[in-house]
This record gives sequence, structure tokens and C-alpha cells, in this order.
Amino acid sequence: MVDRIAEEKINQIRQSVDIVEVISEYVQLKKQGRNYFGLCPFHGENTPSFSVSADKQIFHCFGCGAGGNVFTFLMELEGISFQEAAVKLAGKANIELQLRMDASVKERKLPKDLQDLYDAHELLRKFYHHLLINTKEGQPALEYLLNRGFTRESIDKFQIGYSLDSWDFVYKFLIKKGFRIEVIEKAGLIIKRERDGSYFDRFRNRIMFPIDDRNGKTIAFSGRALGADEPKYLNSPETAIFNKSKILYNFHLAKPHIRKMQTAVLFEGFADCIAADRAGVENGVATMGTSLTGEHVSLIRQNAQAVTICYDSDNAGIEAAFRAGKMLTEAECSIKVALMPDGLDPDEFIKKFGSEKFQKEVIGASLTWMSFKFLYYRRGKNLQIEGERLAYIEEVLQEISMLPKAVERDHYLRQLAAEFSLSLEALKDQQKQIFFANKKQGKTKPSPSLKLKQVTELKPAYHTAERRLINHMLKNRDVAFKVQELLQGKTFNIDEHQAIITYLFGFYEEHPDPASSEFLNYIQDAKLRRIVADIEMMSLNDELTDQELSDYLKQVLNHSIWLKIKEKEAEEKEAERQSDYKKAAAIAMEIIQLRKML
Ligand code: CTP
Ligand code: MN
Repeated sequence: MVDRIAEEKINQIRQSVDIVEVISEYVQLKKQGRNYFGLCPFHGENTPSFSVSADKQIFHCFGCGAGGNVFTFLMELEGISFQEAAVKLAGKANIELQLRMDASVKERKLPKDLQDLYDAHELLRKFYHHLLINTKEGQPALEYLLNRGFTRESIDKFQIGYSLDSWDFVYKFLIKKGFRIEVIEKAGLIIKRERDGSYFDRFRNRIMFPIDDRNGKTIAFSGRALGADEPKYLNSPETAIFNKSKILYNFHLAKPHIRKMQTAVLFEGFADCIAADRAGVENGVATMGTSLTGEHVSLIRQNAQAVTICYDSDNAGIEAAFRAGKMLTEAECSIKVALMPDGLDPDEFIKKFGSEKFQKEVIGASLTWMSFKFLYYRRGKNLQIEGERLAYIEEVLQEISMLPKAVERDHYLRQLAAEFSLSLEALKDQQKQIFFANKKQGKTKPSPSLKLKQVTELKPAYHTAERRLINHMLKNRDVAFKVQELLQGKTFNIDEHQAIITYLFGFYEEHPDPASSEFLNYIQDAKLRRIVADIEMMSLNDELTDQELSDYLKQVLNHSIWLKIKEKEAEEKEAERQSDYKKAAAIAMEIIQLRKML
């Protein structure tokens, strides 16, 4: 754990930074009335539902419910702790803030074997890099790389190296450095010979690409043959620290760019990733020669809303892009697909045509997921032949039927009609038929906007009343205590609301003034913070009249009375069923009393 930061320090930071300024670094904000609006960085959207209040120093998204103050904004967007967010903000405000790490963190150690695995990789990474850059033995490898278009800058940035043409150099080197044989073998850096139990180096005479985990620690290597040797790439085996299905090459370096742009670019090979970085595309990651897994998808999704798939333009690449795109859309990523001409891969394209063309004509001109799918279905079909053309149109109509928005369906139907000189009406009819056939089979999904609408419409009156009360209680300490008194020990009906006011009474015990943004730091639970931000953004009058107060309270209290009445009515029925008419009559009286209280 890290030291608690003194509350005065937190307040000083909070008062010196402006949430609008901080958020503007990530989101383009436009002023509208008292608040600022922009596209929410926490979920994908095309119309702004993300709002920031300069008065209250809080943000809230009406679309996904994200919300909080300037601290929680950074915490959630960058995936950092409260303390880390405080340090960042202090830096912006030129306030001195140093965190003393708790001794237990510094000394908390990994198990020795794991630590040794990491240490061996780090040592070798530096050593391989040194061999490539500074030695005669590494010269041909360096020339190979430079010829391929790698720059000195990216060779350093990606810590590319060279493994000597020797059977036991690494083995001897690591033993001399004090590593145990079992550890080096487990790391996959040396291999045991069956015949005599002796060892030899896995990587010999290869260009060495270190593979880092998401903290930037080297956990494996991939070695490329210098010439046409087979295999072209030789990878470390799976180890305690290296799991291919979880690792994305370059994730550690790309992460801040991915978060900032809310977009990741996905490559098939790490050579492509490095070339793209050189071309100014710094938000690129690559799988390690495996196809995309669910674990990769969720890692990407946690950090970006959109993905541009930039795979090889050969047949295998297009199939893989289709598969990856499907997985990512299911995770609600918005997808684009970048295509290269002439069967080139991104690395070859950049070498041949340069960075600018890559940025503009490949990444910048990537297809929407729908357009890519049209292209995908078209492959291998001769659209001059009627049967193949009809099959194609059918496949495309299937896709169009899955689109939730009428305007989008209309757009693609028109495109299709124009391309094949078909009647738009006939296409529309056919698309509807497909839609209903799918619906019968339960194939269509309800649109997200519909879901959202249903949820908001179903809120009962006491829900709104509780929220309105909390809004006023947040603004005014006296109102808060008045509500507490009038509740006479009863609680709000919604657990989260009750938790919020419990926090609020605690807050007011310690703080004389109401302060929206300060209160948000006081609440530990992220879900509750979101609700508070949501409530804060309700635009209500500053004044709360006595009439309003008693109306709201009535709604809140009535609901629990209603519940009580329902309970009693059931008891009454049960008594009647058992022919206990005396008891039933007594319960009926109680119900009358309860109804009077409403
Ligand atoms: N790969 C692998 N083993 C191989 C070949 C490929 O693990 N024998 C993986 C590597 O992670 C590589 C990716 O698959 O980055 C893509 O392979 P490929 O397209 O063949 O390589 P390129 O990226 O084009 O590499 P280069 O330009 O060096 O030929
Ligand atoms: Mn290549």
C-alpha cells in the first residue's frame, strides 16, 4: 500500500485543477449552456452524451453511466490508482507531492524462480542488443535489418538484438552469471539433448526480438532467421511468464496511445508493428503468430473503443481479419479494416511507398466493417454470373438485416441497388423478409438504444423522488439533516441511494460545506460514485420548497407502506383460506390503517 495523502493536499490539488481543462486533453469538448459536451471516452458513440460541469467539477455520461470527478476520470481512463491520479494532477498544478512507498511494497518479492526468469530475460535482452549494435559478429544482422528499412531508432526502441552463431554461448553466459540450469531450461533459453543430457542454446544466429509483458518486462524472445533458414521465426516456448494467447506484442508501449486515441491498430506480425511505429502509427499491437483469442479481445476492449485491423492482404490475412472482426464486434468494438494493395503486408507497403502513404492511404482509408464484409463475400465470386451474383446479394442482405439503425440499412440498400441496378423497393422487401425469418429463429438482437429507453422508462416514482432528494441533500447540508430527521429512522427504498446518503451524513459530520467533487473522493465504491455523478447532473432548482420536500418524502415512505400493505393482503388471504375469520378481520383493520397513512 501507498501512504495516504493528506486531505488538505487533495483539496489543494482539487482546487487548483479545472476538470474541463484536464478532460479536454482526452475529449473534444463543446460548451452548451452551463455544461460541456463531447464523445464519451468510456464507450463508443457517435452523438455526444458525455457532459462535464465546470460549476460542480464533475463529469457524467448519459449513455453508459460513467461519472465522477477529476480524480476518478483519470483513474478510470488510465486505469491507475487514486494516488497515481493525485500525483498526475499535482504535476499539472505545480503542487509538490511525493509518495513514500510503503516498505512492504518495495520488499514484497516474487518467488525466486519467477524473479530469476525475469532477470535472465532482461540480462539477455541487453546482451543480444549489445551484440547487434556494437560487435563485429552482429554486423551482418544489423545490415540485414537496415536493408529491410529498420531504423537505428526503432532498433533501440524495440531493443532488437542478435544471438551469436554458437551452440552454448548463452548457456555458459547465464551459468557464469549465477543462474541455475533448471531456471534457464524452464525459460526455454536452452534445450536438453536427449542423448547425453547436455544443453544447447535455443537461439543461434538469429535476429532477436524481445517480447514484453504489459508492464514492459521481457518475458520471451522471437528469433528471426537472417536468410531463408527455416523456421523463419523461432519463438520461446510457453513458460510460467509467457502465454501467447494473452500477449500482444508492443502493448506496453502502445497503451498510452491506444487509450488516448481510443483506437488500437491490430497487426498479424510484429515486423509490421515495428514498421508502423516508424511510420508514426504508435497505437499498434500484434498477436504472436497465433490467431486472436478472447483474452486478446478483452485486453484491447479494456483500453479502446475502436480497432483498425491491418492484416496481410493475402487470402489467409483476409480470412483472419474476418474472424478477428467478428470477435471484436461481438465485444462491442467498432471495427475498421485497412487493406493493402497487391498482396503486400504492412511492413512491405511502408518500405515500398513510405510512411505518409501508409498513414493516409492504408490506415486513413480503412473500410467500415460493413464495407469490408461486402468485399469479403465478393471474393471468389464472379458477379457477372447470375447465380453467384444472387448468392452475393443474399449474403449482403443478411448482414444489412442485422443493422439496428434504419438509416444505416437504408444507406447500404441504396448502395446495393445502385451497384446492381436493382429496384430499391424490391431490395427493401427482400431485406424485410429476411429480417422476419431471422426473428422467428431468434437471430436478431434488440438495438442498444431500445434497451436503454426501456430501462429509463421503467423507473418508479419513488426512484425519481429519492434521486431528487439526494440532489438537494448534496447541495445543502441543512436539507440533508432535515431529511434525516423526517425519515425517522426509515430508509430509502433503493439500496444504493441509502448507501449514498449514509456516506453523505458521514461526510457532513466531518465537513462543514457541501462540495460535489470533494464528496466523490470520499466515496470508496465506484458504482456509487457513478450514481452520485448522475444525480448531480440533474438540473433542478437550487431551492427546495417545503411542499416539494414533503411530496418527495411521501413518495419514498409510501413505497414501503405499499410493500407492507401487499404483505398484509397476502396474510389476510391466507387467514381466510384457513377459515380464521377473526384473524382475517384484524388484518383487514391493519390494512385500513396503513392505507390511511398513504
Ligand atoms: N510466425 C511465427 N513463426 C513462423 C512464422 C511466423 O511465429 N515460422 C509469427 C510471427 O509472430 C510473425 C507472424 O507470425 O510476426 C506473421 O508471420 P509472417 O507474415 O510470415 O511474417 P512477417 O511479419 O511478414 O515477417 P517478415 O517480414 O520478417 O518475413
Ligand atoms: Mn513481412
